[in-house]
Amino acid sequence: MKPCLIICCFLLQVKLSPAQNTSLAPTPPMGWMSWNFFADNINEKDLKEMADAMVSSGMAKAGYNYIFIDDGWQGGRDNKNNMIADPVKFPSGIKALAKYMHDRGLKLGIYSDAAQLTCAGYTASLGFEEQDAKTFAGWDIDYLKYDYCHAPIDVETAKTRYKKMADALRNSGRDIALGICEWGPRKPWLWAASVGGQLWRTTYDIRDKWKNLSSNENAEGILDILDINAELHQYSGIGKWNDADMLVAGLYGKKGPSGDLGGIGCTDLEYQSQFSLWAIMNSPLYATNDLRNMNEATKIILLNEEVIALNQDALGKQAIRKINDSIWNVFVKPLANGDVTVAILNRSDMLQKFEIIFSQLGLMDKYEIRDLWLHKNIGKGKKWNGNVLAHETKVFRLKKI
Ligand code: GLA
Repeated sequence: MKPCLIICCFLLQVKLSPAQNTSLAPTPPMGWMSWNFFADNINEKDLKEMADAMVSSGMAKAGYNYIFIDDGWQGGRDNKNNMIADPVKFPSGIKALAKYMHDRGLKLGIYSDAAQLTCAGYTASLGFEEQDAKTFAGWDIDYLKYDYCHAPIDVETAKTRYKKMADALRNSGRDIALGICEWGPRKPWLWAASVGGQLWRTTYDIRDKWKNLSSNENAEGILDILDINAELHQYSGIGKWNDADMLVAGLYGKKGPSGDLGGIGCTDLEYQSQFSLWAIMNSPLYATNDLRNMNEATKIILLNEEVIALNQDALGKQAIRKINDSIWNVFVKPLANGDVTVAILNRSDMLQKFEIIFSQLGLMDKYEIRDLWLHKNIGKGKKWNGNVLAHETKVFRLKKI
């Protein structure tokens, strides 16, 4: 394409979709979110310690650059109706916390809700969208997670309320990304980007378990969320991401939000599978474990830079689930340099043998096959066969030869 044509196409695209700012989240956001570990028992000391651990563990270098404050930071409003932080939890204030993050090359996210109260019952933003967006901008906030508890169930109200906050953020004088969090019932993948969100949760809250064994549809584990999010690949793209909720690696059934509703914990192999699957589905990668006390297994998962590279790949294509039966899920994700990811999940509870001929997936060439968990090239050819452990996800990067 000629350069002038590229520029024209770009300008046309900007003109056609003014609500959508792809530069705020050109790749899926990565970081650490406070909710599953602390619930609303958060304070500035712990959040600073998490930021320090994100740097010292090598996570920041691997691409994790956000600390996301979730629910529980709020201390109500002052006599001019400005939102204030809880002075006991945040004695230095949120602006000082943002400076702490920025000084370390990190960013700070914050949380509110499109109603009068948040999910945990704190002050929220309905009716104060512009004022709150300006407050967040004045604190140098980089991201807003905007929840939907205590709001009406219809989709039109949701669109209106999210657009109101998106517009307010756009007029706030600062670049602040917007994460829409209405959990999926109003199909936000159909409208969230056009009202101004950079990402949207596709499901209810993840629980720390492999799958839901109860009849409660809100008690979703890794497989339940996978089955919803994998079908939504067509809606995801650069600057507009399906958000499959937090990573549960390293929580091991800890009491708290992720431990509720049967969240008894997972094996490290299951946590590794979640990480692989979330990465190839271009979900944001939000760790939520205690970064200050991580065991080796958790570090190996969260710091797999070859898997992270799939998530952050510039082409921005969510993996497509090409095979979906009761035992096997096989995903294909094209990458910017022409390589292709093939991921193979064994959903069953037993080790299984598998053979995949790449042409069955539409991959017609001969490839060098790299195993991104073994970190080595394991062969060349037009197929792969081998054993896959129960609940394991093999992740291969194929290079055409
Ligand atoms: C909702 C969200 C969670 C978390 C809590 C906070 O449940 O889905 O991710 O933000 O609210 O109260």
